[in-house]
Amino acid sequence: MSTPMNRRNLIGGAAVAGAGACLMSAVTNQVVAAAENASSSSKKNKAKLDWPRWNQTDEAALLDVLNSGKWGRTGGGRMVPKFEAVFAERMKAKYCIATSAGTTALLTAFGALGIGPGDEVIMPPYTFVATFNAITCNYALPVFVDTDLETFQIDPNKIKAAITPNTRLLLPVHIGGSPADMAAVNAVGKQHNVTVLEDACQAPLAELRGQPVGTHGLGGCISFQASKNLNSGEGGAVLTNDEQFANLCFNFHTPGGVKHAPSVGRGANFRLTEFQAALLLSQYERLEEQSKLRDNNAAYLTEMLGKIPGIAPARLVDGCTRSGWHLYMWRYDKQHFAKLPRESFLAELSKAGIGASSGYTPLNTSGHVKALATNPHYQRIYGKEAMTRWLESNQCPVNDRLCEEACWLGQTTLLGTRADMERIAESISKIQKRAGDLARASG
Ligand SMILES: Cc1ncc(COP(=O)(O)O)c(C=O)c1O
Repeated sequence: MSTPMNRRNLIGGAAVAGAGACLMSAVTNQVVAAAENASSSSKKNKAKLDWPRWNQTDEAALLDVLNSGKWGRTGGGRMVPKFEAVFAERMKAKYCIATSAGTTALLTAFGALGIGPGDEVIMPPYTFVATFNAITCNYALPVFVDTDLETFQIDPNKIKAAITPNTRLLLPVHIGGSPADMAAVNAVGKQHNVTVLEDACQAPLAELRGQPVGTHGLGGCISFQASKNLNSGEGGAVLTNDEQFANLCFNFHTPGGVKHAPSVGRGANFRLTEFQAALLLSQYERLEEQSKLRDNNAAYLTEMLGKIPGIAPARLVDGCTRSGWHLYMWRYDKQHFAKLPRESFLAELSKAGIGASSGYTPLNTSGHVKALATNPHYQRIYGKEAMTRWLESNQCPVNDRLCEEACWLGQTTLLGTRADMERIAESISKIQKRAGDLARASG
């Protein structure tokens, strides 16, 4: 769809709707409001300025499924198996099992692995809450390993110390669509004989040494939720090169699954619909082009922002040959901005029509995570004292610092022009020049 976009809308519009679409912060709302005021388009056009983008191809694909009268994959399915084949090939994976969400992709993988009560799963705190939820839906214990400040990814050097005889799974997350250091994570997994699964929900097309994410460990889980770079409103997939694991996942995700694998005695209905698969196939047609644009713009932004003192773009890990660029993330050091608080910095960007967000708050000390310690099932499975110790051990000081310094742009911002990227860098430089005055004004 060639929607006319004015620059203000483009930079500010859906910029921070990503990463679980959970961060409709005050800043975001201001930006959307500013963008809406600035636009003279009709209401219909305004809706089109946001993510996702679609055209007649998507309409035709949906109508085709509608008119076929075959809306689900049971008894065969046309679109879901086709999408699985296309996506597996693109991600250089032997198998793809499409699911109803990224969360259910994780639940499918956990079901196939038999993760359950008493098992510990190692995860980073710098992630969307769904990573945690998938673990706790299985009554397993999430164990937080602190973040690497420069890359925003799990710090592989700290995983070893978190491993116990109960550790069943390492669950690195490719946050922002940029890959975690899988070579280092896999080395720890191998040394301790612990399975590695990638939460690649934000990271389709991201690569390490030329191999897309999802197959660096036993498998990987992808999300096609509405904010994602490839989306069908909701949706997900498990990728793997392991036939047995693929069959177990297939069996788990559909009642009465029949692929050649022994039953694990549990299962669910986590199937993707034919409508969603049709939409993914038509959206997929423009994914590569959009991704190349994001690649180029992200590289250009990094070149420009890297020269601004106090702005540190998230470093891509060694071996990263491509990021999925779901988010563009950097750290803001207020010492280089006359101590101007990050929130004031973001508000100034917002005034310039740039919708940036402060990103995640510390998950490991959130009310949601803390509540697990008093959950009656957890207290029964692990014991009250153990849950209190678990609560006390959920300290991730580097992540705390990162949550205070991080700034994000959403993936739609990276679909702008080079001039848009220049305007972002110029706006930051201008804020820096005025930082003393702004800091005094902000009190
Ligand atoms: C890192 C991460 N893991 C898991 C999920 C869950 O995916 P979904 O929302 O499709 O269930 C998300 C979704 O935003 C995510 O960002």
